[in-house]
Amino acid sequence: MQKILVTGGCGYIGAHTIVDLLENGYEVISIDNNSRSTPQLLAGVEKITAKKVKNYKVDLCSYDDTVAVFQENRDVAAIIHFAAYKAVGESVSEPLMYFENNLQSLVNLLKCTKEFNIPHFVFSSSCTVYGNPDHIPVTELTPQQPAESPYGATKQMGERIINDFAHTGSLKSILLRYFNPVGAHPSIAIGEVPLGRPANLVPAITQTAIGKLPTMQVYGDDYPTRDGSCVRDYIHVSDIAHAHTLAVNYMLDGKLKSNVDVFNLGTGNGVTVLEAIKAFEAVSGVKLNYSIGPRRPGDVVDIYANNDKAIKELGWNIKYNLDDMMRTAWEWELRLRDDKTLHTSQNFQLN
Ligand SMILES: NC(=O)c1ccc[n+]([C@@H]2O[C@H](COP(=O)([O-])OP(=O)(O)OC[C@H]3O[C@@H](n4cnc5c(N)ncnc54)[C@H](O)[C@@H]3O)[C@@H](O)[C@H]2O)c1
Repeated sequence: MQKILVTGGCGYIGAHTIVDLLENGYEVISIDNNSRSTPQLLAGVEKITAKKVKNYKVDLCSYDDTVAVFQENRDVAAIIHFAAYKAVGESVSEPLMYFENNLQSLVNLLKCTKEFNIPHFVFSSSCTVYGNPDHIPVTELTPQQPAESPYGATKQMGERIINDFAHTGSLKSILLRYFNPVGAHPSIAIGEVPLGRPANLVPAITQTAIGKLPTMQVYGDDYPTRDGSCVRDYIHVSDIAHAHTLAVNYMLDGKLKSNVDVFNLGTGNGVTVLEAIKAFEAVSGVKLNYSIGPRRPGDVVDIYANNDKAIKELGWNIKYNLDDMMRTAWEWELRLRDDKTLHTSQNFQLN
């Protein structure tokens, strides 16, 4: 059984990916300092898989502490690196914190890949690297525009650092560019625990529907799209998770076409904000209290993925549709309301 090190394993996408890896025969360890999470999601992982995953509560920005994990685990076959700060708004007010955390952790891990001879590395990238693209759908070759935020810049720089390091021959890597991961595991044992006021659409919808937020705004209905609201490519988190298992298989089977292969992870379907709200209302039966507000500065108007490469090369199949995304997101929100053990992370208040 091959051992995979997942960083950020107590977080949203990390926990879903651990489930998928375990279900596909991998052994998993996690490094997560719980700066943006609690160990609670790993209890959910155990509930789904009946397997316990060890988390090392280590800050990846500490090289010595990170090295100690590798010294204890000399049999790691590949690393999936999720750990990062991800709040776009916070990155604008705290840019140094974002550059330090997201890039220092990456550099430390890459140094460990060399020291411990683990050349297989999957990196959580994002469609933010495309900025406001000239053409949609975006393919992996669509030219990158300047990042809209320090957070986006950490993803562009992260990709650059990996490319430069792989160029030395020390690393084989897959960069996975996620579009908009949403929803929760169908068991509703794990899901997203948003911190502070959610900046993303689906948590804003579910929190409004449940009454945590009194109302929500749609930022602009006068864009040149089919109903005037922005278009995004929402993708179920379990579909994203499975793509990581496929990426690890692909790498370990020696199928990489170059030192760094890049894949878009989206459904390929653009959905407008108003369509997403309608889909939510239909599956939940809840009428959403929302209003149309002004455009939000920095919002990309219209972006969705060309996902042909992930489907063809990785053999990726998308299992969940928009209704599934909304249904599981809603069931998870109901669970967050009822299960007080999941509330501890609300201590990390972001603005
Ligand atoms: N969720 C999204 O919408 C989205 C979209 C595109 C890309 N991504 C990227 O995917 C990755 C995972 O996102 P997520 O939604 O699961 O985020 P998350 O915040 O739920 O999980 C990230 C985890 O990393 C941990 N962490 C942060 N800094 C750390 C450090 N220095 N040392 C150890 N642990 C640390 C946090 O405690 C947290 O548990 C991130 O890199 C994010 O930028 C997310």
